[in-house]
Amino acid sequence: MDFRILFLLLPLLFQAPFSSSTNTLLPGSSLSVKSATSDVLVSPNGVFSAGFKAVGENAFCFAIWFAISSDPTIVWMANRDQPVNGRGSKLSLTKNGNLVLLDAGRVTLWSTGTRNISAVKLQLEDTGNLVLRTSEGGQSFTLWESFKSPTDTLLPQQKLTMDTDVVSSKSQTNYSSGYYKLYWDDDNVLHLLCHGPDRQLSSVYWPYPWLKYFENGRSTYNNSKTAVLNSFGVFSSSDDLFVLASDYGEKLHRRLTLDPDGNLRLYSFDMKKSTWVVTWQAFPKPCDIHGTCGPNSFCTYHHSFGQRCSCIHGFKMANHRDWFYGCEPEVKWNNSREIDGFFRVANAEFYGYDRGFFQNQTLKGCEEVCLNLTECKGFQFKFEDSVYKCYPKTQLLNGQRASNFNGDVYIRVPKANLSFYEKPGKEIELDCPSKSVILTTAYKKPHENATLMVLVWVSVGLAGMEFVCVAVVLCFLYLTRNGKDEKAQGYMLAATRFQEFTYADLRKATRGFCEEIGNGGGGTVFKGMLSDGRVAAIKRMREAHQGEAEFLAELSIIGRLNHMNLIEMWGYCAEGKHRLLVYEYMEHGSLADNLSADHALDWEKRFAIAMGSSKGLAYLHDECLEWVLHCDVKPDNILLDSDYQAKVADFGLSKIQNRGEAHNSSFSRIRGTRGYMAPEWVYNLPITSKVDVYSYGIVVLELVTGRKPTGVQIVIGGGGGTAEHGRLVTWVREKVNGASTTEAWIEEIADPILEGNFDRNEMEVLVKVALQCVEEDKEARPTIRQVVEMLQCHEDVRAITDVLIKPS
Ligand SMILES: *[C@@H]1O[C@H](CO)[C@@H](O)[C@H](O)[C@H]1NC(C)=O
Ligand SMILES: *[C@@H]1O[C@H](CO)[C@@H](O)[C@H](O)[C@H]1NC(C)=O
Ligand SMILES: *[C@@H]1O[C@H](CO)[C@@H](O)[C@H](O)[C@H]1NC(C)=O
Ligand SMILES: *[C@@H]1O[C@H](CO)[C@@H](O)[C@H](O)[C@H]1NC(C)=O
Ligand SMILES: *[C@@H]1O[C@H](CO)[C@@H](O)[C@H](O)[C@H]1NC(C)=O
Ligand SMILES: *[C@@H]1O[C@H](CO)[C@@H](O)[C@H](O)[C@H]1NC(C)=O
Ligand SMILES: *[C@@H]1O[C@H](CO)[C@@H](O)[C@H](O)[C@H]1NC(C)=O
Repeated sequence: MDFRILFLLLPLLFQAPFSSSTNTLLPGSSLSVKSATSDVLVSPNGVFSAGFKAVGENAFCFAIWFAISSDPTIVWMANRDQPVNGRGSKLSLTKNGNLVLLDAGRVTLWSTGTRNISAVKLQLEDTGNLVLRTSEGGQSFTLWESFKSPTDTLLPQQKLTMDTDVVSSKSQTNYSSGYYKLYWDDDNVLHLLCHGPDRQLSSVYWPYPWLKYFENGRSTYNNSKTAVLNSFGVFSSSDDLFVLASDYGEKLHRRLTLDPDGNLRLYSFDMKKSTWVVTWQAFPKPCDIHGTCGPNSFCTYHHSFGQRCSCIHGFKMANHRDWFYGCEPEVKWNNSREIDGFFRVANAEFYGYDRGFFQNQTLKGCEEVCLNLTECKGFQFKFEDSVYKCYPKTQLLNGQRASNFNGDVYIRVPKANLSFYEKPGKEIELDCPSKSVILTTAYKKPHENATLMVLVWVSVGLAGMEFVCVAVVLCFLYLTRNGKDEKAQGYMLAATRFQEFTYADLRKATRGFCEEIGNGGGGTVFKGMLSDGRVAAIKRMREAHQGEAEFLAELSIIGRLNHMNLIEMWGYCAEGKHRLLVYEYMEHGSLADNLSADHALDWEKRFAIAMGSSKGLAYLHDECLEWVLHCDVKPDNILLDSDYQAKVADFGLSKIQNRGEAHNSSFSRIRGTRGYMAPEWVYNLPITSKVDVYSYGIVVLELVTGRKPTGVQIVIGGGGGTAEHGRLVTWVREKVNGASTTEAWIEEIADPILEGNFDRNEMEVLVKVALQCVEEDKEARPTIRQVVEMLQCHEDVRAITDVLIKPS
């Protein structure tokens, strides 16, 4: 017996005792909402069921779903926007051949509008199609079929034609019509369109609007306008779209769904894991989907973090449940050319809604153009093909930010409030966490965390990739960290495990705060054991300057930052004056402990620690575009787990402490630890992510030489500030520049404890990268992301660094 047949039969066997297991409804009979669990039609192969599904409190929809897993996947709905009452509602096939949905037994909410008296019956077929047909003289005719009125899903063999649209659901939990539509346009091309909540704004985002059709692989000449998915995983259409699932081949169950986030995804069912996995998606970069974050906001995306929306600085979320409504200015005003000005957001763009295009404009000229238009909300300004280009915008929509974007946007605001928008020293405020809200929080139920689930599915799906692979999927494979699904799941766990503890809990866990394991970063750290047996490091903050709400707001964000090279925060306690943070406990303590210990770290561990901590910092700096600066990178804040994997600790705390200091202005603004602090702190220069790069460089030099960076103090001018002239840096530079060969300086500076047991190439790369990091001029330092890249390809990097670092 064929294996697959067994699979086909299994659900049938299980279901038989619970339902009447019929696939047919005859005239004069009905399916009642009252007995929603038993009044269902089941397709002969047992794969699909049709009946009433609860969609809310006492609210039901008539639906068809895959009945193959414990969590049924809905593929069609009759009344997605108008649920019926849980009492007295039913779906009836009338004697004269009309299929009607009655709300509370009275009002007809939906009907097929068919009429035929000869041998009508409603059948749920093996394909998932619900068909109303008549037979006459041995021939059967279709009066109506659910395949012709899809909701958000297409099943194999279900044709999408010019008369039908696929419309996404509102959210993972709300099945009513959402904001995205897959449809055939008059130009014979299959499109994805986004339309806002007020239906006024709409924009096509697929095929990519910035490319011509043929560049998207589409054509316009065939006017038959049909698209269809087959069971092998090919989705093709008459405009030459040809999509191949990553698991191309005969598979039992597939579906193509326009998800609530506007991404079109092809799924197949994994029998073993009993879940749906993504085998293709239209958008590897979800920020390219229009409307995602609404007006006046930016979308950012990171492969392990998912997608985020954040308001333009000085704007606030318009509807806290739904990012689609975007953000609105905190200052409301009527614009006019006399009172308005602009503030700049670097490396950003808004797509669409251009009010003309002006080439060869100066910045001033572009401002003029925008000011002269009442409807101009701001403009895009970029230098491209050796001219400046100016695009005044009537809407600030489809915003994205990424460090590699060429071009800035200028937002129109009242001149009087420019300082409010521009806030000097913005970077130092580390306001990324409080200004950005992770997209998924817009959904009600955190455990049905859409973006994350998709990520998990995608990575699971990719792990099982067998056959042909489309380039897009390959790219995604690369982005999803080579398909490590454990990582993605680990992230989910971490996101939900974050919890609140009582002070009593933590006092008990630490046995009255008796075992102190560290001190610094604004508090004392104790070892403790939580009631569930987990060993934790519990930090008691020294002073509670902060209000509870503020503290929690910061923490909930810090708690979400999750990366294998960042220490994981499990929870917190905010009770009265007490403020405590609960972290995972690190077996091997801090890098500082290990460097000073007799049993030295071997070279392999040292290199891995340098690598790991750079990745942790890169995650803090880049992935969240407004930047979480650490401000206190030092060996004490790099902890080592049982495998000596480096984890950066104490990040984000500078912000929490900053609040307290702001109230008490006699504190200096300097943070950090002597020896590791970048010159900017002392010279009162703007603080950027490069301060962490500097500190990281010092840590690496310490790691390779085993020497402490103790500095010589130099008193500066009348300001009373003191600068540190890095003695370690000078010492290393002198050795490097003074030696006749690379081998010579490597032997001279290497930590003697290593006794020569180290990789020369790695050592050379580390030192060169570190020396770049500790350049006095912050512009000369690489970003931490560049550091990661240089270390990652340390074999090839030698050539590059030889060019970059001319010993000065
Ligand atoms: C689903 O969304 C619609 C439109 O926003 C809303 O009217 C409806 O109440 C929501 N339904 C549920 C069950 O939340
Ligand atoms: C019923 O359907 C059949 C087949 O389409 C058609 O021949 C017949 O005329 C229809 N009867 C009525 C009353 O519409
Ligand atoms: C148009 O597309 C349909 C469906 O894909 C196909 O069957 C037909 O051959 C195409 N016509 C031409 C002229 O290519
Ligand atoms: C903006 O203009 C409208 C209509 O001219 C007026 O009613 C409103 O008060 C003005 N708002 C502000 C903030 O000036
Ligand atoms: C831009 O302006 C400069 C100076 O006015 C002129 O020489 C140049 O030809 C212009 N370029 C274009 C593309 O208009
Ligand atoms: C803007 O309007 C002012 C006065 O209404 C006019 O002098 C100026 O030339 C205009 N500038 C542009 C770029 O249209
Ligand atoms: C904006 O400017 C106006 C006029 O100077 C001022 O009254 C208002 O407080 C400012 N708002 C903010 C948020 O800075």
